[in-house]
Amino acid sequence: MSRTILRGRVLTFISEPQAIDDVASYRYLEDGAITIEDGKIVAVSDFVADDLAEVIDHRPHLILPGFIDMHLHYVQSQMIASYAGSLLEWLNTYTFHEEQKFSHQGHSESVASAFYDELIRNGTTSAVAYCSSSPRSVDAYFGEAEKRNMLMIGGKVMMDRNAPEALCDTAQSGYDDTKALIARWHGRARGLYAISPRFAITSTPAQMEAAQTLVAEHPEAYVQTHLSENDAEISFSMELYPNSPDYTGIYEDYGLLGPKTILGHCIHLNHREAHVLADTGSVAVFCPTSNLFLGSGLFDRERLIKAGVRIGLATDVGGGTSYSMLRTLDEGYKVLQLRGQRLNPFASFYMATLGNARSLSLEGTIGAIAPGNAADLVVLNAGATPAMALRMATVTTLMEELFLLQTLGDDRSIAEVYVAGARAKSTLGGL
Ligand code: GUN
Ligand code: ZN
Repeated sequence: MSRTILRGRVLTFISEPQAIDDVASYRYLEDGAITIEDGKIVAVSDFVADDLAEVIDHRPHLILPGFIDMHLHYVQSQMIASYAGSLLEWLNTYTFHEEQKFSHQGHSESVASAFYDELIRNGTTSAVAYCSSSPRSVDAYFGEAEKRNMLMIGGKVMMDRNAPEALCDTAQSGYDDTKALIARWHGRARGLYAISPRFAITSTPAQMEAAQTLVAEHPEAYVQTHLSENDAEISFSMELYPNSPDYTGIYEDYGLLGPKTILGHCIHLNHREAHVLADTGSVAVFCPTSNLFLGSGLFDRERLIKAGVRIGLATDVGGGTSYSMLRTLDEGYKVLQLRGQRLNPFASFYMATLGNARSLSLEGTIGAIAPGNAADLVVLNAGATPAMALRMATVTTLMEELFLLQTLGDDRSIAEVYVAGARAKSTLGGL
């Protein structure tokens, strides 16, 4: 059995940091060794020479668990940065048009390959993505994940109204296709399926019932949808489902909430909605670059935490404007500044790693550098650009280094990425 040791400055979280000086929430090794066998971490310790292992020395860089992105759309990779006033205009003008291209297998495969390159370039080793309504887009998505040995979650969007006919499925075909895709991809290699009714606006009550049946029949699968992103979206949803008490109530009425349910945005929730999310264990996903780009609103992290809601963090490409979780942390920090909430750098990097793993109920598998976890890792260089190096010269603490990485960092700060113990960034084609 071959054994590799990664040597470097190792940082991993144990619990959610409660304050900037909460040193018990993380483990930091100044000269650490991560021992990897068969794609898994088998030991984490201070470095000691080992003649039987290959040693890769990443000093002085920081080694963290690979980033996890809890919400994005791989089928929007070629329409990211599209000029629109707000969500519904953006969907109708660009998004629904673009996603129709994914009924072609070749197109799906070539975009999926480029999308995964971009994730790796940015240090993201696991993600939860929406595919298009075409099952071909899902085959391409999971097929590429399998080739790269990545733990990826995703699913075909179910949508049977308020979109171009060519993109719409029906309640029945959405059910049948999803069922077949769960059978084909859930649990194959490292793939996990997410039942994905796009949002209330694009699903008829009949399709919501079909989604409800799927969720009841497949408790092993995740569920993902969008919730409370934009005022016009909320009003239209309530017109379509007048008997539900509020937007969250629509998903609640169809049995779609629970600890495996991932809800993008959750910006404008009322008091009842926040408590329903908490009571059901559903996850509210903060997508700062998207919320700013589409002018959707400011996520209220503290209010949701106080209500007991589980929280995730995501790029939401292509409403989001970067694949980088570092850029996402930076914009998230600024959104919370506008709310008078201060996100400390330890809490930031917790969210992008162990926090998101916990929100996916995948603690023990990904999100931490600990024995038994997959060796999905990112190597960070806080002096990657001249401006960063200039600032790094005055940095004296780990906290300052993390804050520099999130404030000025991007794909250039990702020195190397490991997926299941294999080098993934330096082996990308074209680099
Ligand atoms: N709501 C429904 N579909 C989408 C989408 O593709 N992106 C965003 N940001 N919100 C949505
Ligand atoms: Zn989205």
